[in-house]
Amino acid sequence: PSTVTVAMLARVMNVKLAQLLTRMRRVGLESEANYDYILSADYAALLAEEFGFNPVVDDEAAFDIYPPKPLDDLSTSPSRPPIVTIMGHVDHGKTTLLDTLRSASVAKGEAGGITQHIGAFSVPVASQTADSTGPRSITFLDTPGHAAFSAMRARGANVTDIIVLVVAADDGIMPQTKEVIDLLKRDDSQVDLVVAINKIDKPSADPDSVKKALMAEGIQLEDFGGDIPAVHVSGLTGKGLPELVETLSTVAEVRDLRAEQDGPVFGHVLESNVLKGLGSVATVLIRQGCLKIGSHIISGTAPGKVRRMTDPSGKPVQVALPGMAITVSGWKTLPKAGDEVLDGSESDIKKAIANRLRRGVAEALQEDVEAINEARKQERD
Ligand code: GTP
Ligand code: MG
Repeated sequence: PSTVTVAMLARVMNVKLAQLLTRMRRVGLESEANYDYILSADYAALLAEEFGFNPVVDDEAAFDIYPPKPLDDLSTSPSRPPIVTIMGHVDHGKTTLLDTLRSASVAKGEAGGITQHIGAFSVPVASQTADSTGPRSITFLDTPGHAAFSAMRARGANVTDIIVLVVAADDGIMPQTKEVIDLLKRDDSQVDLVVAINKIDKPSADPDSVKKALMAEGIQLEDFGGDIPAVHVSGLTGKGLPELVETLSTVAEVRDLRAEQDGPVFGHVLESNVLKGLGSVATVLIRQGCLKIGSHIISGTAPGKVRRMTDPSGKPVQVALPGMAITVSGWKTLPKAGDEVLDGSESDIKKAIANRLRRGVAEALQEDVEAINEARKQERD
């Protein structure tokens, strides 16, 4: 088993329970632990070593499929589309902006394509010059407040390349605008910022005072000699949106975003749903590798075999590459938003799922035991 109680470990090692508990405290493990405290395999192995044993952690039970290590040098890897997230204060026009961008791209893209809401969409970029090295499309994530984002952030996964900070020209910097600014300042990851000064169509719009206020917050705008672009837009009328897309394309071109298409698949679930006729379906953002029809995949404790993939406009795709967000069907159970998606052999995935499920039960048990220990402690006090 991958877990053991303190009492069981003491018995297996043939040491007194009190002796084991004392040793646990000395090595800094759970001072509240009692006889029925559940130890993970790693903790148990550490303690067994303390008592002079030579523990062997069961490889089968420890087996899992892990995300591939990011390569140090991507300079020879293929380019990938930039991932853009829209953020900003309530009512400053994020949804309207995205809807207008989306419908414009749908109109330009496949005729009659009906876009479902899949948590992401793709906007084609017209290359300005023949030798342009800029991206050919931009992937927008339209669920910034979504559970997927908090889950990914909690794990330190940084999916966004560029943040578009939407500020309403008639309202200026508001609490959630500041939150985004603080987040960008704290963030040591490589996220670029583009400011969209929105609602420029309104008579009360005052973009200049918004820009000054942003400067006062430490956002070094291009207009004032800094390097952060600000674009005047109206999500309502569509004014300035081509310029916004062009600006994003330029920022992405400078970043020279690349990802490896060979090797194992690594992605994130943005959204998941059970759909009539398709069963469990998940929108997956591919980060590395290439996902194909028939690939065996794992996400959390959900196994799957890719049956069908569609792009954001609903068009079937055979191969999904890094930077693409695609809807994947073929899951045996529903994967969770924010969870990693990996591929592997059918048997490896089966083994990994069994272990993940068992660890999940063990963790739930551990939480129960902790709750019981805590309740007992409070009773005593
Ligand atoms: P939350 O999702 O609640 O944070 O809001 P949001 O940022 O998504 O704003 P939303 O797009 O819902 O827009 C809020 C209101 O502002 C709506 O009434 C929109 O019609 C209006 N609005 C959005 N963009 C513009 C714009 O460019 N010009 C004008 N005049 N109104 C806009
Ligand atoms: Mg909204």
